[in-house]
Amino acid sequence: MNAALPYPTGLLAELTHRCPLGCPYCSNPLELASRDQELDTPTWQRIFSEAAALGVLQVHLSGGEPLARRDLTELVAHCAAERLYTNLITSGVGLTEARLEALKKAGLDHVQLSVQDANAESADHIAGYRGAFERKRQVAQWVVASGLPLTINAVIHRANVTRAAAMVDLAVQMGAGRVEIAHAQYYGWALRNRDMLLPSGEDARAAVAEIETLKPRYADVITIDHVIPDYYARFPKVCMGGWGRRTLNVVPTGKVLPCHAAETIPGLEFWSAADRSLADIWANAPAFQAFRGTDWMQEPCRSCDRRDKDFGGCRCQAMALAGDARATDPACSRSPHHALMAEIRFATPTEAPGVYRYRR
Ligand code: SF4
Ligand code: FES
Repeated sequence: MNAALPYPTGLLAELTHRCPLGCPYCSNPLELASRDQELDTPTWQRIFSEAAALGVLQVHLSGGEPLARRDLTELVAHCAAERLYTNLITSGVGLTEARLEALKKAGLDHVQLSVQDANAESADHIAGYRGAFERKRQVAQWVVASGLPLTINAVIHRANVTRAAAMVDLAVQMGAGRVEIAHAQYYGWALRNRDMLLPSGEDARAAVAEIETLKPRYADVITIDHVIPDYYARFPKVCMGGWGRRTLNVVPTGKVLPCHAAETIPGLEFWSAADRSLADIWANAPAFQAFRGTDWMQEPCRSCDRRDKDFGGCRCQAMALAGDARATDPACSRSPHHALMAEIRFATPTEAPGVYRYRR
């Protein structure tokens, strides 16, 4: 491997697009891979071995719903044999106590459980699945009883924005050691529901303030990982730790992306782990080279003192909002497109809450 190349430390393995839920903020693409297009067990195992050889330390087993893969326990065992830390990102729907035990025995290290709302009825409506909320409570109990660390992940949008703090309380009740509060991002299917999901500026501001005040109160109880929405930031997030610097994302068919939403950028050439090694893809795939480092930057990023800190922010957001993946992320106050963020920040909802376009 080229000595100048950074080494990846994380791999997001989207094992399948199959999922029992229908969350309107799903950021998976509009066109989902079918079951017969998914990589088989030996190919995933080879990918995990190649990832470990490349320097990857953590594998996030995701989807869709990774529990839909019958070989999940086998895949976890393979990762454990390669000394990879495994994080199961799940809705919990479809998990049994026996399967959780088998996963733990195979070497699973961590469970990240999604929660749609602190109110059961609303949570089930958002998930498009009756009874999902109660199942999640049950799964959380099993995870905690098994001794595995539990993180609760909650996505904030108009229907639950006033219960952001209640979701932190719920995570505490569930026995989680960490809760991630993230505001919905509008890629893939979520873009179809943007008008239904976008909270009012007032509600979003109140939720941000409320969560921040909970941090000291819960300091010894739970870690609150609050991703403040871009439209309140002065500078953008270091998306993905920088393009092609820290992580790889393998989709169910084997295509390898520098980030989850990279396919929204037109003209990028992605290579597949089905027919190339991960090391070759990391070093040479055109999509990984497109925005690696700082040579691709335009002004104001090109001459900015922060360019090696945030790498110009998010390429997918620059594409979505400024129409140019090489532009400065509009979340940056130095971007000529920064006014677009204020439009989102002060948005007034136009659609009735809770009326969603579900996938099915
Ligand atoms: Fe980051 Fe570019 Fe903004 Fe500078 S101008 S802070 S490099 S996004
Ligand atoms: Fe693709 Fe940020 S989501 S670079």
